[in-house]
Amino acid sequence: MAELLLLNGPNLGLLGRREPEVYGTDTLADIEDAVAEEVAVRGWKVVATQHDSEGDLIRTIQDSYGTVGAIVNPGALMIAGWSLRDALANYPSPWIEVHLSNVWARERFRHESVIAPLASGVIVGLGALGYRLAARALISKIAD
Ligand code: DQA
Repeated sequence: MAELLLLNGPNLGLLGRREPEVYGTDTLADIEDAVAEEVAVRGWKVVATQHDSEGDLIRTIQDSYGTVGAIVNPGALMIAGWSLRDALANYPSPWIEVHLSNVWARERFRHESVIAPLASGVIVGLGALGYRLAARALISKIAD
């Protein structure tokens, strides 16, 4: 069965109880279920991982070259996660960057993403819906 990688970075394991006014009330488990529901129509399985450290995220990417695509929320590693960026540069399938919050409406230090130039697309500010939309985009982008 084809597998889609869902990768979430630092502090995203706290979703649901992390600044809900910014990130919403959905938990990471809710988001994983939503993505699984979206990609089930294509017969894909979701492999969901969350890590607080950059090294663990990189190891996951290196171990996931067999996945058909990925949805990546790098959290604050968007700002200066150069090693994460290099790991994604060698990831062979399309992937989409997602941010729950509208990072451009927030502090200036969140306005740059070092990984965005490598992504097939970027979705920001749509909350948990952004993950569903990323899943749909990958379904239409990735051939059978
Ligand atoms: C975030 C935005 C980042 O700036 C922040 O550091 C996060 C969450 C988002 O999903 O909105 O951890 O990636």
